[in-house]
Amino acid sequence: MLVLGVETSCDETGVAVYDSDRGLLAHRLYSQVAIHAEYGGVVPELASRDHIRKSLPLIEEVLAASGIKGNDLDAIAYTAGPGLIGALMVGASLSRALAFGWGIPVIGVHHMEGHLLAPMLEEKPPAFPFVALLVSGGHTLLVGVEGIGRYSILGESLDDAAGEAFDKAAKMLDLPYPGGPALARLAEAGDIDRFRFPRPMTDRPGLDFSFSGLKTFTLNTVNEHTLDGPLPEPQTMADIACAFQEAVAQTLAIKCRRALKQTGYKRLVIAGGVSANRRLRQVLQSELARFGASLFYARQEFCTDNGAMIAYAGCQRLMAGQRDDDSVQVKARWPLDTLPPLN
Ligand code: KG4
Ligand code: ZN
Repeated sequence: MLVLGVETSCDETGVAVYDSDRGLLAHRLYSQVAIHAEYGGVVPELASRDHIRKSLPLIEEVLAASGIKGNDLDAIAYTAGPGLIGALMVGASLSRALAFGWGIPVIGVHHMEGHLLAPMLEEKPPAFPFVALLVSGGHTLLVGVEGIGRYSILGESLDDAAGEAFDKAAKMLDLPYPGGPALARLAEAGDIDRFRFPRPMTDRPGLDFSFSGLKTFTLNTVNEHTLDGPLPEPQTMADIACAFQEAVAQTLAIKCRRALKQTGYKRLVIAGGVSANRRLRQVLQSELARFGASLFYARQEFCTDNGAMIAYAGCQRLMAGQRDDDSVQVKARWPLDTLPPLN
């Protein structure tokens, strides 16, 4: 089955062609970072307008790169939520229109299911069951995964998502949007022993997260070390970035270990933008090695938003006979554990 995937839930236009026999044929990504950077965050209306400009040319490009024509496709999968409603509408309307023209079925994919399944595109995909840590700009979820659509939420963030916390801490350090990768780069020059930031909610049982206290702790540390200029001196900034990243990575690792213990599963999948973080991968790798569990993640470019994960997730559901009716469906909010199982 040959499926076009279209991702427009936030500030990246991602498209891809996935073939159930041959794998991923081609993918293209256009990031709107430059548009939103001057505002310090995503401006939803600008995001929608730019998806309109970019999605069709990118689809033409990805079809050409795959060596296929639109009417060779068997189906289209688009991100139907969760995300920015206007941005989602662009991908949904375009996908519906193209599918109508080509006379093929359409399926609306859950963005976080896309992230969760992205490691399946790698050479050594994880087998079911596994625990998934989904860490993106909008979500922090620990999920027990028995199969596609068989999800139980084990824990989630009570306030900010991990990526959001990275972005806010980055702002305190005057780093450009998007802050996560910039903070991670700055942290490389930091001294890991200079500050010890709290590991929130790890001193009590449970699998939920909270990052707001860590955010306040970061702000206070920045303020305490701001002497003459508007910001602390460069080495202190790097030390703060390092301490923040370490606290997030260790907190996530503690909860992942607990989730694996609770479920008895031996595989951990990390997905979403923050799973691109090298320190997090390192910390988890050594933590898991201690009790014989294995870690899985997607290649860097498929950790953040992309069309390949949507094409893949959509293809699995389409092959199981699922498709949407004729209405254009998008959802700003959409709990992951309400998805139907594959069969
Ligand atoms: O999954 P994603 O691309 O979009 C959402 O679905 O939200 O995740 C974006 C988030 C942003 O908060 C970004 O700062 C964060 O992932 N991020 C990172 C890194 N790369 C992206 N955070 C920490 N370290 C990174 N290397
Ligand atoms: Zn995402």
